[in-house]
Amino acid sequence: MAVIIDGKKISQQIKDELKEKVSALKAEGKTGALAVIQVGADPASSVYVRNKKNACAYIGIESLAYELPEETTEEELLHLIQELNEKEKVRGILVQLPLPGHICQEKVIQAISPEKDVDGFHPESVGNMTIGAPGFLSCTPAGIIQLLKRSDIEIAGKHCVVVGRSNIVGKPMALLMLRENATVTVTHSRTRNLPEICRQADILIVAVGKPQFIGAEYVKEGAAVIDVGIHRDENNKLCGDVKFDEVMPRASAITPVPGGVGPMTIAMLMNNCVQSIEEGR
Ligand code: GUN
Repeated sequence: MAVIIDGKKISQQIKDELKEKVSALKAEGKTGALAVIQVGADPASSVYVRNKKNACAYIGIESLAYELPEETTEEELLHLIQELNEKEKVRGILVQLPLPGHICQEKVIQAISPEKDVDGFHPESVGNMTIGAPGFLSCTPAGIIQLLKRSDIEIAGKHCVVVGRSNIVGKPMALLMLRENATVTVTHSRTRNLPEICRQADILIVAVGKPQFIGAEYVKEGAAVIDVGIHRDENNKLCGDVKFDEVMPRASAITPVPGGVGPMTIAMLMNNCVQSIEEGR
């Protein structure tokens, strides 16, 4: 029977550590703000944005909210980012994704100064992460590393299978696990014999974006299972990419949905903001 990894508790510990750090930095005269930009009013995005603003308030950093209408043009958004790039007190800039279809996501991400790219999505941040140079780490994968470490799950030498190859989770996740000396396999929708490959994992990280896709037949007895998915099932209840009830008895550790990976993403965003204030870059 698996240990249930409590992401809510671990993220709270991290936020409490950050709160202390922020107060020490304030005493040294080091402060800064996070600018949070949302274009349109997608309800899920509004929840995430609210949670990010609340987390800033909790750890004691200022957040500046930019709630822009759906019809905002790409040019207007790029102009705002440029302004924020130049504003000294703004230490982090976050543009909530997805953006409306008429705005090019890549262009927007590339417009954010890498020094303020607290999401870690800019190609320069991704490049630095790839070669192990200093820079902001992508929040969800960095949060998963913290979940594993703080749950005393050894990574070095283990076989980690990542299911999914998105730019914001799958790919950076694989790179960070490699940095932690895991042996890493990345799988995706074109992978053959997916259950067989997943069954080789000591650590199985699932970010496929398909509700309850991974059942017990994908999991080796004693594996640690990390579920990045978040969906609503037919009864409007939150669920992940993993069939929790079916997989739990086989696993040694598993993250629940909600309360697993989700809260860690915000904790690591706060960590990046504090890093940015600290470095005063
Ligand atoms: N949309 C879903 N996840 C994220 C995230 O981590 N950052 C941003 N900016 N948008 C998202």
